[in-house]
Amino acid sequence: MSQLDLIRALPKAELHVHIEGTFEPELMFAIAKRNQVAIPYQTIEEVKQAYNFHNLQSFLDIYYAGANVLIHEQDFYDLAWAYFEKCQQDNVVHTEMFFDPQTHTVRGIAFETVLNGLVRACDDAKTKLGISSELIMCFLRHLSEEDAIETLQQALPFKDKIIGVGLDSSEVGHPPEKFERVFAQAREAGFLIVAHAGEEGPAEYVWQALDLLKVNRIDHGVRSEEDPVLMQRLAKERMPLTVCPLSNLKLCVVDDMRDHNIKRLLEQGLCVTVNSDDPAYFGGYMNDNFVAIADALNLTEDELKKLAIHSFEASFLNDAEKEKWINQIHAL
Ligand code: HPA
Ligand code: ZN
Repeated sequence: MSQLDLIRALPKAELHVHIEGTFEPELMFAIAKRNQVAIPYQTIEEVKQAYNFHNLQSFLDIYYAGANVLIHEQDFYDLAWAYFEKCQQDNVVHTEMFFDPQTHTVRGIAFETVLNGLVRACDDAKTKLGISSELIMCFLRHLSEEDAIETLQQALPFKDKIIGVGLDSSEVGHPPEKFERVFAQAREAGFLIVAHAGEEGPAEYVWQALDLLKVNRIDHGVRSEEDPVLMQRLAKERMPLTVCPLSNLKLCVVDDMRDHNIKRLLEQGLCVTVNSDDPAYFGGYMNDNFVAIADALNLTEDELKKLAIHSFEASFLNDAEKEKWINQIHAL
């Protein structure tokens, strides 16, 4: 089997994808038109030219602007459904998707409108495509902890539809410790916990995510490598890192894919996984990310299989489901 055939054949779980980051320009134009919302681009080519980022913030500014055209429940459904079709193409059989309620509620869109559209797409993905999914609600870290607490309150009536809470947006200057209390409340309410840490921020933010937020996974975490004691802890606890290679390249976290540390993290015994983050903005979905690192870092068949196995190990699936998919990978 060629390397590309193996990547395609591997069943995979995606654990780090922002649903608002799967918004392809074609769908953005279509929804903007039907909602009669103006967007600052004339053509798809113009949009793609704007997707030239030099850091996280330069991306976030454009990403939040794009989300402004999403208004009705059907818009959120269409957004998620388009992503599920990409999952099917890439043999992503399970996905745990982030959504950013505050991006929408600050514009006057009801929490339920967002959630109902996403949940309906998740239900259809299960019945029509056989793809399982979960939703993780992220707090925007550039906003206050009070705002996050209010968002948590809004989510409580829908607890059964949201598996966990996370933390995203502008990392530097907004450390995990800013949100210690709201995450304690979320844990108390029974949510699982993840947080973006160590993407642009230092290893110290990863320590805080572990010790103060008590995360079940770290999103990104690539800067953990700067702290050998942290690396030992992550390896010993098998704390998953949801790494996003094309994202890291596009946001200049690495200058060249050949410099990406995912292979070294794997060699040091960390439970690293491959993910697409914001695939409509960063140039590729799950398999594109696998291909990019396989080529740049000369990954072996065993390493590719290990990354796919980790995606299930690190997922919030039950043990029987994890075992089913991992056995399929071993049988390839
Ligand atoms: N980092 C932080 N916030 C985000 C990202 C990211 O990679 N993508 C969408 N929101
Ligand atoms: Zn992310």
